[in-house]
Amino acid sequence: MRVLSGIQPSGAIHLGNYLGALTNWVRNQSESSFYAVVDLHSLTLDIDPEELRKNTRELVATLFAVGLDPAVATVFVQSHVAPHAQLSWLLECTASYGELTRMTQFKEKAERQGSYRVGLLTYPVLMAADILLYQTTHVPVGDDQRQHLELARNLAERFNNRFGQTFTIPEGIVPAVGARVMDLQDPTRKMSKSLHSPTGTLNIYDSPEDIERKIKRAVTDNDGDVAFDWTRKPGLSNLLEIFSSITDREPAQIAAGYTRYGDLKSDLATALIETLRPIRERFETLMADQAELDRLVSLGDNRARPVAEATYSLAASRMGLVS
Ligand code: AMP
Ligand code: TRP
Repeated sequence: MRVLSGIQPSGAIHLGNYLGALTNWVRNQSESSFYAVVDLHSLTLDIDPEELRKNTRELVATLFAVGLDPAVATVFVQSHVAPHAQLSWLLECTASYGELTRMTQFKEKAERQGSYRVGLLTYPVLMAADILLYQTTHVPVGDDQRQHLELARNLAERFNNRFGQTFTIPEGIVPAVGARVMDLQDPTRKMSKSLHSPTGTLNIYDSPEDIERKIKRAVTDNDGDVAFDWTRKPGLSNLLEIFSSITDREPAQIAAGYTRYGDLKSDLATALIETLRPIRERFETLMADQAELDRLVSLGDNRARPVAEATYSLAASRMGLVS
């Protein structure tokens, strides 16, 4: 089993990223897991160079701070491993314009922006390259990335049929139930970097005061009944689900221990502050020593590179490029 996943350095890491993705990465890490900070993907946004640099360093430090072990898992930066961009070009020459313009995420973003860059269209091909370079068998992805994973499978199958067996066909791993964290102000929407909901989004490095304030202000209902019920009580259920993820107790069981929303919120705030505190401390230590952080990243880069290079060379040669 070979696992690869990627996360964009596009902004602050929030509780949804942490509980929905990162805790799973940490739990399942092994010598055959690869986790990429996909900085090339973030270039599809109109991102300021200084900000991209800062986000990338912070995200790398965060991956180690939440518990990825550089001696176990391979944590690397996508742009440090040249075959990602190289294989992406080869795959672009096998993908059709039609199948890329049919991608839901592309259609939504393109519609919103009016004009868009070519990178926004070809982004799923780059993601396919990320996956296929490592002969990945399993890809942990959120719901929103399923269509992109399907494209990676199609491109791999097509390539293998046309040029001979080259790529492993990857499978998606569905995140565990309860891995969807909703916005604290609007529990019908996923907590998200792009939602612009400063009070509804809890970033993992928020101060204890901010955590407390955001949890206390989280939207619930006012019938006073502490129960786990997504249809009747989405706001409260989101809080119970979050509480459950950080304590490994069932949401309904937690609900049974409370009669007042205020008590539940204040215990949840305390639990979150305590869960996030050591992560923040490790993050600060790592960020204070850039040389050590760089060393850890190059450890991962150097482990990723030969694997990626081997697959790239095989694909290039299969397509007729002379070595
Ligand atoms: P993004 O912030 O959209 O780049 O997502 C990075 C990772 O976090 C992906 O694996 C997402 O599936 C996951 N993720 C993002 N938002 C949430 C959320 N609200 N709940 C659970 N997982 C999330
Ligand atoms: N596109 C993914 C996202 O926006 C990130 C990503 C890039 C990825 N390459 C990947 C995820 C490879 C899984 C595997 O969330």
